[in-house]
Amino acid sequence: GSTIRVTSSSSTPSTTIAEPEGIKIKSIPTKPIEGQKTGTSGLRKKVKVFMQDNYLANWIQALFNSLPPEDYKNGLLVLGGDGRYFNREAAQIIIKIAAGNGVGKILVGQEGILSTPAVSAVIRKRKANGGFIMSASHNPGGPEYDWGIKFNYSSGQPAPESITDKIYGNTLSISVIKIADILDVDISKVGVTKFGSFSVEVIDPVSDYLELLETVFDFQLIKGLLSRPDFRFIFDAMHAVTGAYAKPILVDKLGASLDSISNGIPLEDFGHGHPDPNLTYAKDLVNILYAENGPDFGAASDGDGDRNMILGRSFFVTPSDSVAVIAANAREAVPYFKNGVKGLARSMPTSGALDRVAEKLDLPFFEVPTGWKFFGNLMDAGNLSVCGEESFGTGSDHIREKDGIWAVLAWLSIIAHRNKDKKPGEKLISVSDIVTEHWATYGRNFFSRYDYEECESEGANKMIEHLRDIVSKSKPGDQYGSYVLQFADDFAYTDPVDGSVVSKQGVRFVFTDGSRIIYRLSGTGSAGATVRVYIEQFEPDVSKHDVDAQIALKPLIDLAISMSKLKDFTGREKPTVIT
Ligand code: G6P
Ligand code: ZN
Repeated sequence: GSTIRVTSSSSTPSTTIAEPEGIKIKSIPTKPIEGQKTGTSGLRKKVKVFMQDNYLANWIQALFNSLPPEDYKNGLLVLGGDGRYFNREAAQIIIKIAAGNGVGKILVGQEGILSTPAVSAVIRKRKANGGFIMSASHNPGGPEYDWGIKFNYSSGQPAPESITDKIYGNTLSISVIKIADILDVDISKVGVTKFGSFSVEVIDPVSDYLELLETVFDFQLIKGLLSRPDFRFIFDAMHAVTGAYAKPILVDKLGASLDSISNGIPLEDFGHGHPDPNLTYAKDLVNILYAENGPDFGAASDGDGDRNMILGRSFFVTPSDSVAVIAANAREAVPYFKNGVKGLARSMPTSGALDRVAEKLDLPFFEVPTGWKFFGNLMDAGNLSVCGEESFGTGSDHIREKDGIWAVLAWLSIIAHRNKDKKPGEKLISVSDIVTEHWATYGRNFFSRYDYEECESEGANKMIEHLRDIVSKSKPGDQYGSYVLQFADDFAYTDPVDGSVVSKQGVRFVFTDGSRIIYRLSGTGSAGATVRVYIEQFEPDVSKHDVDAQIALKPLIDLAISMSKLKDFTGREKPTVIT
């Protein structure tokens, strides 16, 4: 059928007259495709895999086959992504299959852009039934690299395993794809396109999200800090999605200078980069902060805008410390928390720095498996306000995803709050002052993560088997070098809200002095297996806080590598990334 399209250049969409005859739905026969199982965070594969006939279409149809009809029939869905290669084609496929399955309306970010936190914010604000995020997060993009898709539910939170398991089951039995016979939608302009009773509204990717952040933070407070000549700030968008948010939020609203934003234009291949804000992949930013007379504050975000890295001048804030510092200062520095923080949570491998804040502030505290989806139920139940993961994720219950820009604004708020009475010329309290002061109050949890990326799956799996075997034979009191075992297990979690249980979430060895060694296989890689080893040691003695983490943790790291026989199982002498 013909389509009627009206676009508007303003952000107020124009409406169109419904096409009277409705739309034609085609039923296309298809066959199951192997291997469409989602990992920690959606389905991620090489672009070439997704480009195979029906690969994406099968998964999207399997998703609709897995949802109760009342969750999408005549319903409202959101669609956006991180701007990576293949998003534009994918968006058209998703729109047509959604229409074919009876969805009423889709809200699409202009040019297909919506960061992961923005999707969560839009779902919540517009009371949508759910949303799709076209992203492989921090994995590289481009024809030779990765593509991915995630589905979030009506609370704005990643779909639970019960749904993703169903989707996988349905990918193995799928036989028909229902697709609407409609033209491609122009997603480059804000406006509404109607096809019978189905419509697509292209929305500004920033406004709903910005509006929310303005209710969370004191923008005037942050603006005051960013306009000080003695505070120099830099934000690295890594050529990824936060490029679309940095200028409207940090520059236009908060007064940062335009040249304080680097790599601020989203590119399909992220400028050949690996948009993961850590010490290895955001090396350029790290070098700037560690150079002589570098800026006072630096931050970066990942492909889809949910991760963050925080740096001070010549100072790296570990994600585990970052969430602890934010939690400790939230009530004073962030208006959203002025009535208090409801509770705190971290993922299991994240250091125990947050535990100490919870203890001191007498707040409910939760330890969940790796993956942001585990925080959502606690938030919905009103038990959790601030949470974080060692994997550079920090956030709160303002949405149901981790939020890179939120973390940056939280840090700026804390710095601004601490310095609000400082006169021009007076020395400012710095990021490193704030963190070292935090350690002095709570003790320091030295933490490091060793990653061995793209190992052979077989060896990596065998290593985990070997570790489970050690666990099964271990008992409290066993001696491991100079460490005495408190307990060892393979982490399992029972959700306190819905009672659901997940097991085998990471092998951990916890010693009597609070030190921990944890092993996991990554759930977000797209090729082979990535082994992660997490090492932590608590140090209450202030005089020892100044030591470099790699030096402080050396004996535990050596123990972690030898007891796992990591070199034998993986053939790797060295990790590919150390954080
Ligand atoms: C994604 C999730 C995070 C999780 C991380 C773990 O970023 O959103 O919640 O912490 O993956 O990744 P991994 O590669 O360790 O499974
Ligand atoms: Zn991400």
